[in-house]
Amino acid sequence: MSRAAVLAGLGTYVPPRVVTNDDLSRDMDTSDEWIRSRTGIAQRHWAQPGTATGDLAVEAGERALKSAGSGDVDLVVVATTTPDHPCPATAPDVAHRLGLNAVAAYDIAAVCSGFVYAMASAAGAIAAGIAERVLVIGAETYSTILNPADRTTSVIFGDGAGAVVLRAGEPSEPGALLGHDLGSDGSLKDLIIVPAGGSRHPAGAAAESGARPAETYFHMEGKPVFRHAVTRMAASSRAILDRAGWAPESVDWFVGHQANVRILHAVADQLGMARGRTVVNLDRVGNTSAASIPLALGDAASRGLLTPGDRVLMSAFGGGLTWGSTALVWPRIVTG
Ligand code: COA
Repeated sequence: MSRAAVLAGLGTYVPPRVVTNDDLSRDMDTSDEWIRSRTGIAQRHWAQPGTATGDLAVEAGERALKSAGSGDVDLVVVATTTPDHPCPATAPDVAHRLGLNAVAAYDIAAVCSGFVYAMASAAGAIAAGIAERVLVIGAETYSTILNPADRTTSVIFGDGAGAVVLRAGEPSEPGALLGHDLGSDGSLKDLIIVPAGGSRHPAGAAAESGARPAETYFHMEGKPVFRHAVTRMAASSRAILDRAGWAPESVDWFVGHQANVRILHAVADQLGMARGRTVVNLDRVGNTSAASIPLALGDAASRGLLTPGDRVLMSAFGGGLTWGSTALVWPRIVTG
């Protein structure tokens, strides 16, 4: 009998500072009307300067462990685009700060698909008997990589963290992850990129001029990314629905990566799902990249949308390019 990864706890955290579209319009040539109509976003949370991704990850991690009813895990996986340092990974420090000393801990870098990749990695560790209980965290501080001179990206992204505990269980249990579909297309890596700061273009030299070099900021080609996001998320969702044996119209909630409400609706349309079955929280938190799916799950749970027995489809798309999907029947858990 194969071992499945079963959802046992969920916790979320966003930093307290709310930045509205009107706040952004004061320093940037944009407007509440443009941002809302093009993306669906009304506000986002940005951490105070000095707050790192690991700080948000610890908050969400604590809540997820409490939700799971036990601080007992043997692996911590942190999905992030904005690690605390280029080296070492953020996960070991997060594990240490959560009091989980000596557990295995590593980061996953798959940009906005990071959380779905991290859940697949955790499920693989559980299936292989490497881990019994895994804390999977998606956490981001995009405010640290957004270029204030680039209105096309600055209005979209927010900071936050979401975490789940996955435990070993039976494939037939509520909460069991019903397979994973993952993919990538590196030929399109330049569509979503922080050009400098890695080994191809170290950031140090340019920083001597005093001003932060533009290449150290996040860059995205919005239009093609939009098109690829719809195509890839729809195809990946279909692959997972086939594996689960679920008809699209039998899905209770589509929890897609919260990039743009028009993307979510386009994917729902392609799948033949009612748009009303799409969970949307990007209006309040923006695109939080690797934190997006767990924050959307937490939001849906706290609003009472997710009830035990509901069929939940999750799908994400992001830089790399990368994409991935998974699905589960919502279990009886108390979320934090
Ligand atoms: N405020 C006001 N105007 C803006 C603006 C802003 N924040 N950003 C861009 N514009 C302008 C552009 O300059 C352009 O002006 P022009 O017509 O005079 O040239 C116009 O608005 C249209 O820009 P465009 O980029 O074509 O808009 P769009 O409808 O494609 O929407 C995005 C832009 C970024 C919202 C959209 O492409 C998108 O959501 N892409 C995917 C984003 C994403 O996060 N995907 C997931 C991957 S992680």
